[in-house]
Amino acid sequence: MKIFGIGTDIVNIKRIEKILIKQKKIFINKIFTKKELNQLNLQSKSLASSIAKKFAAKEAFAKAFGTGFGKDLSFKDIEIFNKKSGQPYIQTNKKKFSKFKYKLSLSDDYPWAIAFAIIIK
Ligand SMILES: CC(C)(COP(=O)(O)OP(=O)(O)OC[C@H]1O[C@@H](n2cnc3c(N)ncnc32)[C@H](O)[C@@H]1OP(=O)(O)O)[C@@H](O)C(=O)NCCC(=O)NCCS
Repeated sequence: MKIFGIGTDIVNIKRIEKILIKQKKIFINKIFTKKELNQLNLQSKSLASSIAKKFAAKEAFAKAFGTGFGKDLSFKDIEIFNKKSGQPYIQTNKKKFSKFKYKLSLSDDYPWAIAFAIIIK
């Protein structure tokens, strides 16, 4: 096994708060799969921060993959979940990713949320 790529991203939670006020439904449906939405508490006071971290995780993955988002990679190709322990992890739902494994770490300190992703081949 060797490291295929690393990626990091920082997101301003205040920016997410503003988006959630104006276009919550459109935004979350653009970024998250149904499975992810099932794990997201849409009523939670910390919703913006949770979304910011998961959004950062997807961007960090896109950088680790080396393409950014575009025709080869969409937000919904990457799913971010939490284990029962709280540890976040990445799942991918396209065959082209089947040879990879991932490591993910997230953190926030308002108004900042940060993600660091490693793709292992
Ligand atoms: C790279 C990407 C994933 C994130 O970019 P971003 O969040 O806009 O910008 P960031 O400031 O976090 O990162 C920029 C840095 O990413 C790095 N980067 C750029 N393209 C990259 C790529 N293909 N692979 C890895 N890293 C890349 C560069 O170092 C760049 O800084 P530099 O040009 O000064 O060297 C971008 O390709 C992308 O797809 N953004 C999608 C943004 C979007 O759709 N937002 C919707 C908001 S609702």
